[in-house]
Amino acid sequence: MTSCSCFKRNIRSLVTLNRDVNNTNKGEIRARILGIETSCDDTGAAVVNEKGEIIGNALHSQTETTVSLGGVLPQYAKALHKKHIDTIVKDALQKAQLHPKELDAVAVTVEPGMPLSLEVGLSYAKQMVLEHGLPMIPIHHMEAHALTARMVEQIDFPFLVFLASGGHCLLAVARDVDDFLLLGNCTDCAPGDAFDKVARRLKLKTLPECTGKSGGAMIEHLSRCGNRDTFNAPDVFFKKRSCNFSFHGIKSHYMRYILEEESKQGIEGSGVISNASDLCASFQYAILRHMCRPLQRALVFCDNNNLLAETKTVVLSGGVACNRYLRHGIEKVCVTHGARLVVPPPELCTDNGIMIAWNGIEKYLCGRGFVDDPQSVCYRNRSPLGTDITEEVTKAHIKVKLIDLGL
Ligand code: KG4
Ligand code: ZN
Repeated sequence: MTSCSCFKRNIRSLVTLNRDVNNTNKGEIRARILGIETSCDDTGAAVVNEKGEIIGNALHSQTETTVSLGGVLPQYAKALHKKHIDTIVKDALQKAQLHPKELDAVAVTVEPGMPLSLEVGLSYAKQMVLEHGLPMIPIHHMEAHALTARMVEQIDFPFLVFLASGGHCLLAVARDVDDFLLLGNCTDCAPGDAFDKVARRLKLKTLPECTGKSGGAMIEHLSRCGNRDTFNAPDVFFKKRSCNFSFHGIKSHYMRYILEEESKQGIEGSGVISNASDLCASFQYAILRHMCRPLQRALVFCDNNNLLAETKTVVLSGGVACNRYLRHGIEKVCVTHGARLVVPPPELCTDNGIMIAWNGIEKYLCGRGFVDDPQSVCYRNRSPLGTDITEEVTKAHIKVKLIDLGL
């Protein structure tokens, strides 16, 4: 097992979010890194120090635009990143009361993500490091999601990471800051994408209580007063016993239900079916069930191969991890398998600049990740996380019985 000995932090909460830098003892600070995130539709910037204290944070979310356009449109996302990036970075620096020259490095997301979006953040970071003579640390977006939990909780390597967002769903063992084993991946549509598409098809944005929410948050909200048994939740089985995910079938199943209900109820235009809450509750349950089986298999695979630290930890992150119902179900699976579940606060699960700055700190303190020539750094839209051992996991042919989630 490898781990960074320099990380002995106190368990702390996010109460320091945006706190005044004057509260810190500047004499003790060894690293202050600016993180820039523009991989999808959120423009984020933050300054974090080596203690994991967020000393400046700013975010411009495009959620409302994304919901009203029915998805992330690359050209729009790029235009909004360009419009906001300078203000967002300056805002984060101003909250940290730092001049760019006082930074130790600039960390920036370069992979994976939407090319037009990544380009905006990377170009801005290049300009900044050139102007102020700063080092640059390129960041892998999924690695940053995976390690954010270490900023708020003491978690030793190696631990299991479960990332679920609008573009990803994966299970990986985090062995070190830059060493990951990919156990399972998404074979088609990611869970967040399924949430967004079903919410859109249900026309939930027309409901006043859904204003400003992402598709996933709308469905979670409506599910609270829905009866999941009104609609049968489909089970998705793979021919092979892998740790992979496939949400396409579930999504299509509920799209058909909506069509049937609309025609039964004579719904037209922007109308919403009367039993939308029941449908949401059933859909959310189907997503949870499908997330649990690969997780159980991954935990058994890790046990059989001694892949996790003595205190077995599962970190759940990515935008979908904001969902309390899903978290609850996943925690039950973890507890049944003798593992503890750690979920960062919602502000850190969705895309933000803090996780990028923190990943920069982790790399900085280990002396890894710096580039000699920042101006030659390129972005990559596709970039798998770590070493892919998904085939090996599938070959292990691990049989699991879904636990009673009691939900
Ligand atoms: O990680 P993220 O901010 O961006 C990437 O996709 O990388 O995740 C955004 C996704 C969206 O699909 C959104 O609908 C989903 O996370 N999401 C949720 C919830 N809040 C956000 N999904 C389910 N339940 C939620 N409460
Ligand atoms: Zn993300």
